[in-house]
Amino acid sequence: MQQVNLGMIGGGTVGSGVFHAWQTNGGLMAARLGVKLVFRRVAVKSFDEPRPYPIARELLTTDWQEVVNDAEIHVVIELVGGTGIAKTMVLAALARGKTVVTANKALLSAHGKELFAAAAKSGANLYYEASVCGGIPIIKSLREGFVANQFPAIYGIVNGTCNYILSRMKAEGAEFADVLADAQKHGYAETPPDLDIDGFDAQHKIGILASLAHGFWVDHHQIHTEGIRDVSKIDMEFAEKLGYTIKLLGIAKQISAKKPGVQVSVYPTLIPNAHVLASVNGVFNACFVQGDIVGDTLFYGRGAGKDATASAVLSDVADAALDLKNNAKTRVLPFVAHAWNGRVVPMDDIVSRYYVRFSVVDKPGVLAKISAIFAAAKIGISSVIQPEGHAGESVPLILMIHDASNAAMRKALAKISRLPVVKAKPVMFRVESFD
Ligand code: HSE
Repeated sequence: MQQVNLGMIGGGTVGSGVFHAWQTNGGLMAARLGVKLVFRRVAVKSFDEPRPYPIARELLTTDWQEVVNDAEIHVVIELVGGTGIAKTMVLAALARGKTVVTANKALLSAHGKELFAAAAKSGANLYYEASVCGGIPIIKSLREGFVANQFPAIYGIVNGTCNYILSRMKAEGAEFADVLADAQKHGYAETPPDLDIDGFDAQHKIGILASLAHGFWVDHHQIHTEGIRDVSKIDMEFAEKLGYTIKLLGIAKQISAKKPGVQVSVYPTLIPNAHVLASVNGVFNACFVQGDIVGDTLFYGRGAGKDATASAVLSDVADAALDLKNNAKTRVLPFVAHAWNGRVVPMDDIVSRYYVRFSVVDKPGVLAKISAIFAAAKIGISSVIQPEGHAGESVPLILMIHDASNAAMRKALAKISRLPVVKAKPVMFRVESFD
């Protein structure tokens, strides 16, 4: 049996999870692959850093270059994270012709194009299953299982922290800030939580999925991104009354406009309660993938955690081992640029439906003033909720809006905000019907 030697940089929570999973099922993998996988070196921050599973002491080093420069190591697993030293490590390993397996979504999001170019130049591969949706094999599915498909739409609940917070807000009728504080106290949310709750982690992930699905590396600056800070209890309640749930969705959708392209975005979205994604709760992730040939498919699982991530990392290690076994002649490459004119459609040009909550003075003529502005912009209102209030007080006014471009909606809302009867910045969420 052939042998493939592994080096790992990062021996904390995820790294020790990978080592433990390999100890548990490495023999099984060898039987399935016909290749024996052997760890040769693991670079760690310090020998004594706390790790949930032990790593054999004789493998440890604090010098990552020992991993990258070891001529006997065929595959380097990068689990350091971030976009700084991790980039140097990945480029150094690729330059030495080693296949790299990474879980680093931030790195791919910021430098994916450069890294894949470096991989192509060196003839090595760069695998990244663990970078999106943890243990869900979404990358391999898009790349191989759905190789015969175009992707009209991919909708992902790709951030477990946001999904946990939104699920609890809905279930408990709680406010965002209270659930966030509690989630941080119990270790379900990072401190500071910005990367997750401002949508950037989801931005990295949907950017990677969109790039793979559409064959050009999506520049993360072009991904319209909104987090969940503006979702409040009152919007959860009105959404529920209207038959919807609010989820943070990563969306990658083909847009057939005059100038076709792809919508790539992240924002809190009202989705019908009857849609399968509405029942994905807690820290779980899910991806709803529409293929032009296969139709609708759904993936569900843990998007983070040492064991789920280890499962994804080892699946990449298996692919890397098969590349080496077969001289990389027979496999679909981890990323293939094939759409040379691919483009991200600007958010202003995207058409969607909307939920809008105004805070208005409760007096005759207010709704008429607001609807006149929408009418002048040729934006249609599909339903209205206005709970009974006391004359002269501020009350919520909820409108559901028919299809309109984001530009038209943005301009209309700016005009409405200037009406003296409108007492606060309108709250606007997009509505997805999955048509
Ligand atoms: N922080 C991420 C999440 C997991 O909450 O889903 C790592 O990408």
